[in-house]
Amino acid sequence: MKKILITGAFGQIGSELKDYLRSIYGVSQVISSNYEMMVDNGPFELIDVTNYHQIEAAVIKHQVDTIIHLAALLSAVGEETPTLAWKINMDGLFNVLEVARKYKCQVFHPSSIGAFGPSTTKNNVPQVTIQRPTTIYGVSKVSGELLCDYYVKRFNVDVRGVRFPGLISYQMLPGGGTTDYAVDIFYEALKHQSYTCYLSEDTQLDMMYMPDALKAIVDLMEAPFDKLHHHNAYNVSAMSITPKELAQAIQEILPDFTIRYDIDPVRQSIADSWPNSIDSSDAKKDWNFEPHYDLQAMTKDMLEKLRKKGIQ
Ligand code: SER
Repeated sequence: MKKILITGAFGQIGSELKDYLRSIYGVSQVISSNYEMMVDNGPFELIDVTNYHQIEAAVIKHQVDTIIHLAALLSAVGEETPTLAWKINMDGLFNVLEVARKYKCQVFHPSSIGAFGPSTTKNNVPQVTIQRPTTIYGVSKVSGELLCDYYVKRFNVDVRGVRFPGLISYQMLPGGGTTDYAVDIFYEALKHQSYTCYLSEDTQLDMMYMPDALKAIVDLMEAPFDKLHHHNAYNVSAMSITPKELAQAIQEILPDFTIRYDIDPVRQSIADSWPNSIDSSDAKKDWNFEPHYDLQAMTKDMLEKLRKKGIQ
């Protein structure tokens, strides 16, 4: 990775990843992009990922050798606008892969626990398993995994990726996901000492703290190509938790915090279609994935960082 273009650079992952990459590779080496004009502290390009020519022009202009493709619609918002979700998630990925093929770029593409469905086994889901998702987000993610594998095999494009769990972070709010509760809860705990959760107390899902997600992206992208048995869609998770367990971890630090439940049927049914836990052992074997933050360490750090941001 020498000259890196990030699509969706102002979303939950991109906002932190661009600064993280700039701290490693240099500010001028990381080009952020977004479909609307943004002010950034480094090079920026206006890119709508559904427009092949805009991606190509940025790659030529900056002599990009790596594309980190984060622009996508998440699961809950995807169900409100399935046509748009397909267009952004699939056309966007296809355009990125085509540009990467033509200009010999390495690509990172995140898949998700949303690429699994109700017929996938529930616990400790293996790397290779049944994938019949029931959301448009999941359908686009599993199709994307296959398309990425195809570009590796057919065109030798170095495409890599992980299946991210719900990501918990303090800089930028997630937008329209099913796992967003695990971020919202921290803001509400500090602001109002209470949170109303849209998932039931025992809905178990995989999660990871953002610093571990950022390190995973770099570690995977820097791993020797021939060590990777899968290239794409590596299962990665740091914790498998329920809203009740997350609330208890917060209560250990904020004893007055209370949680109540008001179930949103759409997001609950999406969450119910996803696994309780996934098995990250292939990522551990192939490129030494090792998350640092468990539930307690993440909770402590989230509350400290949000307080520093002035959330109270
Ligand atoms: N966090 C995502 C969502 O909830 C899953 O990858 O949509």
